[in-house]
Amino acid sequence: MAIQDIYPTALRLLGRPVLVVGGGRVAARRAKGLLDAGARVTVVAPEATAALRELADAGLLTWEPRTYRSDDVDGVWFVQTATGDPAVDTAVASDAEAQRVWCVNASDHESSAAWTPAVAVVDDVKIAVNAGGDPRRAMALRDAVATALESGDLPLRRRRISKDSAHRGSVALVGGGPGDTGLITVRGRRLLGQADVVVADRLGPRELLNELAPDVRVIEVGKTPGHHPVPQADINRILVEEALQGHRVVRLKGGDPYVLGRGGEEAEFCRQHGVEVEVVSGVTSAISVPAAAGIPVTHRGLAKGFSVVTGHEELSEVPARADHTVVLLMGVGQLRESASALGRAGLPRDTPVGIVENGYLPDQRVTIGTLGTIADQAEAAGVANPAVIVIGDVVRVSPFAPSHFKTADYSTTSPNKPRTSTTRVLTP
Ligand SMILES: C[S@@+](CC[C@H](N)C(=O)[O-])C[C@H]1O[C@@H](n2cnc3c(N)ncnc32)[C@H](O)[C@@H]1O
Repeated sequence: MAIQDIYPTALRLLGRPVLVVGGGRVAARRAKGLLDAGARVTVVAPEATAALRELADAGLLTWEPRTYRSDDVDGVWFVQTATGDPAVDTAVASDAEAQRVWCVNASDHESSAAWTPAVAVVDDVKIAVNAGGDPRRAMALRDAVATALESGDLPLRRRRISKDSAHRGSVALVGGGPGDTGLITVRGRRLLGQADVVVADRLGPRELLNELAPDVRVIEVGKTPGHHPVPQADINRILVEEALQGHRVVRLKGGDPYVLGRGGEEAEFCRQHGVEVEVVSGVTSAISVPAAAGIPVTHRGLAKGFSVVTGHEELSEVPARADHTVVLLMGVGQLRESASALGRAGLPRDTPVGIVENGYLPDQRVTIGTLGTIADQAEAAGVANPAVIVIGDVVRVSPFAPSHFKTADYSTTSPNKPRTSTTRVLTP
């Protein structure tokens, strides 16, 4: 049979009687698929697999433990025969043909009146693939399409909002990572591909906004430290209002929504207003941006733990110890005060400090100094947000660290290669 001779369609079998002849693994798989579609399944077979017997015992299907009879096809809408005996399958198929009932014959693909495609479900999309009578090829294609849908590489977005889903908008707080489009999660990318509305921050993988369909609405609510063009209360309100209009809303945030990103407040506000929320973690700048400059926030022999704080927060509670790394976000404006506070808390003036501006972006820049020098260096170089400031001996591991920062303690570490040629290193 040539592929152009088949007519793809989707059967709605909900509540309709169907027949499965055979009790083996193939029959069990098909019976399960038919049950999933809501059909009333009768299985005719002298023996049945444990899976089929369990379904029968649970009352989900009827199992007739006997051989097939011609009148079994009477009154059913669809037949699957998979007895493993070609003679019986042929008899079932010809009885079905005589009754004008569609029948899939598992033992004779060529003469079968209907074929079962390889199927995958991604959200509310069902993919069915027939591939010239080659089931493995069909499965490989199905898997590839499903993966592309799951990763957001294929457009999964609804174009038509069905009546019963109209009131069911949702909000996804998606952590987009620090800016490089490759650092968003697969789940985040997929939700972005399904979004009707994207509420976007200034930081994060903004290039992904260019890939959205033209009718996806982008609402810019970007903040810079100390300057919030759209107040948080308005952002919360926008999320809820859009979702209540039935839209799928993605709140695309830089880094991770729950790391100094006010994601908790947004999620809480949505839930208080009856809006379904999903939180998709992201790659936080607190860890990844130092990594972009070859700085691990912990490192054997140097630091056992780390704290992430905002620069303008009280630093006196942070462990001021040689084996503890301090990571400051939004810290450039208060760098001088933060460095003094950490000095007063007990960190020596020669504690290494690294500042990574625009991590993962083409203009990434690294400035390395010490607690005693860093504020002057940053001022002289015009260091600006967004930047992550790392304080602690782990900075010595960076390939950008000057040679006198390196000691035998960690000299066995092979340094990362600098990521971009545009990275500029400033040392005292
Ligand atoms: C409001 S906080 C949001 C943090 C975010 N939730 C996260 O997990 O990365 C913004 C701060 O994150 C840091 N940041 C975010 N992206 C950055 C990047 N690409 N390069 C340097 N710093 C970045 C900066 O310290 C910036 O001021």
